[in-house]
Amino acid sequence: MPIRREHFLLSLVMAGVMVLCWLVFSNCASVSLNQVHHQVVQNHRLQSKQANLMEPVLKSKQANLMEPVLKSKQANLMEPVLKSKQANLMEPVLQSKQANLMEPVLKSKQANLMKPVRTDVLTVTPWLAPVVWEGTFDPQVIDEAFMSQNLTIATTVFAVGKYTRFLRDFLESAEKHFMLGLDVHYYVFTDMPDDVPDNVTLGVGRLLSIVRVPKFDRWQEISLRRMEIIQTAIKDYIHQGANYIFCLDVDMRFHGRVGPEALGRLVAAIHPWFYMYPRSQYPYERRTVSKAYIPQDQGDFYYQANIFGGALEDVHRLTKTCSEHLEVDRSVGVEAVWQEESHLNWYLVRNKPTKLLSPEYVWDDAKGRDAKEIKLVRFSSVIKNKAEVRENL
Ligand code: GAL
Ligand code: MN
Repeated sequence: MPIRREHFLLSLVMAGVMVLCWLVFSNCASVSLNQVHHQVVQNHRLQSKQANLMEPVLKSKQANLMEPVLKSKQANLMEPVLKSKQANLMEPVLQSKQANLMEPVLKSKQANLMKPVRTDVLTVTPWLAPVVWEGTFDPQVIDEAFMSQNLTIATTVFAVGKYTRFLRDFLESAEKHFMLGLDVHYYVFTDMPDDVPDNVTLGVGRLLSIVRVPKFDRWQEISLRRMEIIQTAIKDYIHQGANYIFCLDVDMRFHGRVGPEALGRLVAAIHPWFYMYPRSQYPYERRTVSKAYIPQDQGDFYYQANIFGGALEDVHRLTKTCSEHLEVDRSVGVEAVWQEESHLNWYLVRNKPTKLLSPEYVWDDAKGRDAKEIKLVRFSSVIKNKAEVRENL
């Protein structure tokens, strides 16, 4: 009997040890597997194939089998987008709006899964973020989806030194086109509060606060200090009263709708001068000594810092990281080639934007208006005499 009991106890202990070993081993294995997998994903992400904004994914696959990209582009331009727009013009807008007010979303035009709305441009990134172009969204559906949410959009704009002269046009045009129907709180950062026009009529639910900031001697310094000021402002007061934030340049003007279709957790706009180029030609910071360094074989798009935004938490993380990196650069006497824009681009290689705004949202008046893929210029840099408005050349 005692022997049997000993056997029993011994097998119980052995079974326990085996279970313990199995638990420890499987745990270690899965941890290290996760780590390896994580690294692979990271590396892969940074060195991924560059998406081509002018080459929509589906079409280019078909076209590549036969022949070239250029041909399919031309064919696409001849065809569907314009036609469907004309069809929409036949249906009276007012009537459908009234109907929609009664019965929202339900009455919207049906999307056709077999008929892409834009076939001339990329409308979704390889990480499945939409690229917003005219024709890719229905403004009515978007408005209905957002209007009932009582959203407030904080909007920062810097008017330092002679740049206060751009404020009036900026604000007046924003009141015609920017986030209409939503609450907007402009924060005007300036060294000259008296130069902020006080007779721009703001719509219902729209506010303007003036925040005094120091002026620096060089325009580059004025520009790069913005990240630090925005991150402090979000932390100290903006976060309480807003759901989203947009950071805009003041030497710009609105010409068309920039509405809630532009909202997302992390939103950036594609620079109008570089969207045709391979990434090796983007004006990223290429010196390894800067924190903004991006190697030739990384990066997705070149984003312009004239407009970026998103949820407060995400934009706070972005501006905080960029201002820390700008500080590191400063401590070793380096200034990235395009100041805060270079750091923004570095950040967005690693933290992919959840929504991309096409160059319609950050056009440049100096680029004219004949690019076929730009159906509507919404927000653009005005032509300015740089020598005259800037502090230094
Ligand atoms: C210019 C723009 C600058 C900067 C630069 C990048 O067109 O004015 O702000 O974005 O492109 O190369
Ligand atoms: Mn500017």
